[in-house]
Amino acid sequence: MSTIITNGTVVAEHGTETTDLRIDGERITAVGHVTPEPGDEVIDATGCLVLPGGIDTHTHLDLATQGTVTSDDFTTGTRAAVAGGTTLVMDFATAQKGETLAEGLANWHAKADGRSWCDYAFHLAMLEWPTGRAAEIAAIADQGVTSFKMYMAYRPAMMVEDDEIMQALQATRTFGGTIGLHAENGRLIDELTSDRVAHDEVSAYYHQHTHPVEVEREAINRLGTISHLADDAPCYVVHLSSADGLAEVNRARQFGAPMVAETCPQYLLLDAGSYGRPDSDLRETAGFVISPPLRERTNQDALWVALADGGIQFIGTDHCPFNLDGQKDKGGNDFRHIPNGAPGIQLRMALLYTYGVVPGRLSLERYAQVNATNAAKYFGLYPRKGVLAPGSDADVLVYDPRGTWTVRHDDLLENVDYSPYEGFRIEGRVRQVLVRGRLAVDDGRLTEAGPVGGFVACGQSQPLADRSR
Ligand code: URP
Ligand code: ZN
Ligand code: ZN
Ligand code: ZN
Repeated sequence: MSTIITNGTVVAEHGTETTDLRIDGERITAVGHVTPEPGDEVIDATGCLVLPGGIDTHTHLDLATQGTVTSDDFTTGTRAAVAGGTTLVMDFATAQKGETLAEGLANWHAKADGRSWCDYAFHLAMLEWPTGRAAEIAAIADQGVTSFKMYMAYRPAMMVEDDEIMQALQATRTFGGTIGLHAENGRLIDELTSDRVAHDEVSAYYHQHTHPVEVEREAINRLGTISHLADDAPCYVVHLSSADGLAEVNRARQFGAPMVAETCPQYLLLDAGSYGRPDSDLRETAGFVISPPLRERTNQDALWVALADGGIQFIGTDHCPFNLDGQKDKGGNDFRHIPNGAPGIQLRMALLYTYGVVPGRLSLERYAQVNATNAAKYFGLYPRKGVLAPGSDADVLVYDPRGTWTVRHDDLLENVDYSPYEGFRIEGRVRQVLVRGRLAVDDGRLTEAGPVGGFVACGQSQPLADRSR
């Protein structure tokens, strides 16, 4: 018995056509006209888009950080992801200081294994670069983790120095891996913070002024230099937020650094107006305290254009949820004590469809690339993931473009008490989602599929069609 998705607008890698998809077990076995046989399960996708299931390149599930723990664990977070059309999350496993990378990775397997509704892969965040780490990361690559993260900010808990980044890049390139950098200048953030504190300017409103565009621009510029000096070692900028930052990514490419970039729906759709005024109520502003912060609206056009033309490669949510009640507010209205992060795991595909595809900013093919295919290639998951092709895992999103609805956080499955997108209008809806051939969403609702997701090992980066040089 096969599952046949019939008569949908199938977005395959080299073009879009109205056709069918056959699925046997966990795999796609045909793309093209298929005649269903008796006993086949038929999903009529007439009028709907049939897309590769989304890959969210950036989540923080069950992460102990900033004195608390993100409110979504692998069960609740991946249920929300699947409900939104994402079939693979790439979560940031973290090796705490003093832990080996193997210990950090084992902790993340313990959090995720047997609990995830979609497949998952890991990046591994390294908060330090002790002697012997180069050998450690090569061993971790053999366990299916080939991308790492380092922070150029968050002193003293997480920030690493330039020489450490350079050594890490040199070590990672030897096995075809990559490193994602949180690119903000941590020392300048601390200095700007001290300045604000001296003037008693500590409400959530001021968070943005301690992380100005300049600290992102400078860090990306420096990263380009480090990558270039490390014999043009691959690296990528996580959560790119600004037009100036993007200009530095492009400059780095010009002098040879193979740098790619991820941005997030919040930087495309929300802006610094969310921080209100210096005396705004914490409940209005704390939900937007993230790093990098939301920017002036003028940055958004540049990010959208780059997303369309190949300057930006991926969309991750940086889903890092904390409740307004009991987490965001626990240190009062003082930005130093508000945990940085916001939710978004469920709405990524719908937001990018509504505000990218519908107004003509992104073609359907490009939508599939930035939401799935590019990540699969860059992180060594392709062609198993990220594409609708015979032999690939049957990770499929059937999106019905008809109708509109309005985001209300009560209607979402994210385990958090607000959504930054409250009141946003959405065009169309997720109708079916298949995770490795299992129907996880039907008629817009989660089925009883349960936590069928598993760990997926990443391999070597493969070339992108994008401008990444
Ligand atoms: O504010 C944010 N983005 N928190 C999550 C951690 C990070 O820097 O990605
Ligand atoms: Zn047909
Ligand atoms: Zn970050
Ligand atoms: Zn993050």
